[in-house]
Amino acid sequence: DNLKFIQVETDENIGIIQLNRPEVLNALNRKMVNEIVRTIEDMDRDEKVKVIVLCGNGKAFAAGADINEMAQDSAIDLELLNQFADWDLLLQVKKPMIGAVHGFALGGGFELALACDLLFAAEDAKFGFPEINLAVMPGAGGTQRLTKLMGKTKALEWLWSGEMMTASEAEQHGIINKRLPKELVIEETINYAKKLAEKPALSVRFIKEAVYKAVDDSLLEGMQYERKNFSLLFSTEDQKEGMKAFMEKRKPQFKGR
Ligand code: HXC
Repeated sequence: DNLKFIQVETDENIGIIQLNRPEVLNALNRKMVNEIVRTIEDMDRDEKVKVIVLCGNGKAFAAGADINEMAQDSAIDLELLNQFADWDLLLQVKKPMIGAVHGFALGGGFELALACDLLFAAEDAKFGFPEINLAVMPGAGGTQRLTKLMGKTKALEWLWSGEMMTASEAEQHGIINKRLPKELVIEETINYAKKLAEKPALSVRFIKEAVYKAVDDSLLEGMQYERKNFSLLFSTEDQKEGMKAFMEKRKPQFKGR
């Protein structure tokens, strides 16, 4: 409904969001971010969608926030716009989100990629935070997420230089899961998503929650959270079925509840 800057489709139970402003390398204006986040939220609540895939149309994933839109903003404008409230909603997403990146993923585009749980990248992918060259800095989680992934020493080096890393460098730094030939990256990501969608959905969901506790909370808090989710899974039909099927040496039939 009224989506101007993204294209949305579903393939079986995979929700696919394609950034669609190819004439500006999918530069993210605020309306576009709002469309992306609203669509992800809808998919997160839609029982028919099991996994969400994000990708870009044209030559890039996204070359950053729309510089034209923000060039004249004051600090007070930004404060009052409260645009990051949309980005914060991504932290609430329960289903797996997988990014399929080709071409540029820069600035806000890199931040959107880093907000995904898994990343598959084309050999031509280029990741970076060029904000320093505009005399600003990442604003949608980039400093936090990059540092958690690669450690502060390397993160500072990339953030201060503003240089772009190749897919191979991103792989070495643990930022992406896999490199793929450019023409296959979206297709292979969707195939991967379909396999993930076959796993028992509540295990997938609670594992995601627990892993982010490990990333974001203390070890003790994280372990207590993990334990709670572990116990909770024993209230599902899928757990009974999974263990029963094992003992009966047959393939389990999961229902996602
Ligand atoms: C607005 C952009 C844009 C951007 C590209 N375009 N990136 N417009 N905002 N971030 C536009 C160009 O102006 C151009 O429009 C068209 O897209 C094609 O880009 P070219 O520059 O002609 O392509 P190329 O020579 O291949 O260079 C690609 C590029 C370069 C290296 C990616 O476009 C570039 O440096 N872009 C800016 C990258 C950047 O600084 N990103 C960080 C933004 S700050 P015309 O009309 O001329 O054809 C940020 C902060 C996030 O993201 C904060 C939280 C949300």
